[in-house]
Amino acid sequence: MTLRFLTAGESHGPQLTVIIDGVPAGLPLTAEQLAVDLARRQGGYGRGGRMKIERDAARIVSGVRGARTLGSPITLEVQNRDWENWQAVMRVEAEGVKRKPITRVRPGHADLAGMLKYGLDDARDVLERASARETAARVAAGGVAKQLLAQFEISVRSYTRAIGGVEAALPRTIRWAAVERSPVRCPDDDASRAMVAAIDGARAAGDTLGGVFTVIAEGVPPGLGSYRQWDTRLDGLLAQAIVSIPACKAVSLGNGAEAPGLPGSREHDTPVYRRGRGFTHPTNRAGGLEGGISNGEAIVVHGMMKPIATLRRPLDSVDVKTRRAVRAHYERSDVCVVPAAGVIGEAMVALTLASVLLDKFGGDSMRELSRNLSAYKRALPR
Ligand SMILES: Cc1cc2nc3c(=O)[nH]c(=O)nc-3n(C[C@H](O)[C@H](O)[C@H](O)COP(=O)(O)O)c2cc1C
Repeated sequence: MTLRFLTAGESHGPQLTVIIDGVPAGLPLTAEQLAVDLARRQGGYGRGGRMKIERDAARIVSGVRGARTLGSPITLEVQNRDWENWQAVMRVEAEGVKRKPITRVRPGHADLAGMLKYGLDDARDVLERASARETAARVAAGGVAKQLLAQFEISVRSYTRAIGGVEAALPRTIRWAAVERSPVRCPDDDASRAMVAAIDGARAAGDTLGGVFTVIAEGVPPGLGSYRQWDTRLDGLLAQAIVSIPACKAVSLGNGAEAPGLPGSREHDTPVYRRGRGFTHPTNRAGGLEGGISNGEAIVVHGMMKPIATLRRPLDSVDVKTRRAVRAHYERSDVCVVPAAGVIGEAMVALTLASVLLDKFGGDSMRELSRNLSAYKRALPR
């Protein structure tokens, strides 16, 4: 992998940190560019109280000089404003650290499995890192990947396809401005309203909702990823990137989820040759992926989110200390996060595509990467 990133930080610690290694020198980059997606991740109807506290922004602390990358590792920091309220609980030092162990583990969370795995007796020590707060760091890193892809006119965008039982009726062409105007990031106005009502209903009932987001990457050249080995396949890399998002339980590439019910005659995209444009596919059921390689069509990835596991009316559980049946611990929580998960999905897809782009075209500088990509594109049949 040419492009790698590692995140660190607890949900209520002072900050999240991400180091991105492998970004070529000469990419224009500012903190303002990264702030846009961080703000989009915080939004979406159905979020809880935490997002009212945070005002996420990334501070660039290495790898950039004069608004251009240096080719060295890029370090980004995202402050947790909520840390102010958690300093005693999250103290690094032993003296004065406030402990009130959480033992009534929450179903659908890492609480119990994490306590067993790490030999811990307080679910706080698990949930601080297992929390989806970590995805703010991914979105900051994804902003860098998006900047890189944008230099080559590759865009990565997302919308909400379903929330609870409400499905969007999708227009032939997505109106992206309408998506960003919708409180649930859905391109269908009627479905948007029904989704908001469904979230209100779930909130009133002390319940939660899941749904489906779709990420679309356009302008991706054919030939990224490889069938050479299982772990070089772009379909597999995208699937892992998407399912690594907390609460994302399934992924569908193109119409992959519907494909098992279709006859072969209605599933596959037949290629054609168009003079001046080269080889293309009039349909795109494969979601731009064949044999683990991008085929030049838009890459389409759907992420299926389970309903949020923390309910205001807590689920049945067990107290790991007393071993008695109890109601699960409740900690301030979102009701639905599908709109935000779409933004995280964009980040994960952008990081994956930037990585396979760099794997194929290399380049220590943006100029070199651009030269290599242009030469490849020029050599494609037209
Ligand atoms: C943006 C985002 C916000 C989330 N917020 C919450 C939340 O407030 N409460 C909650 O119980 N789960 C929330 N989750 C989901 C949990 O993080 C996730 O279900 C949990 O860590 C267990 O992981 P798993 O569902 O992937 O197995 C959120 C997920 C995302 C993507």
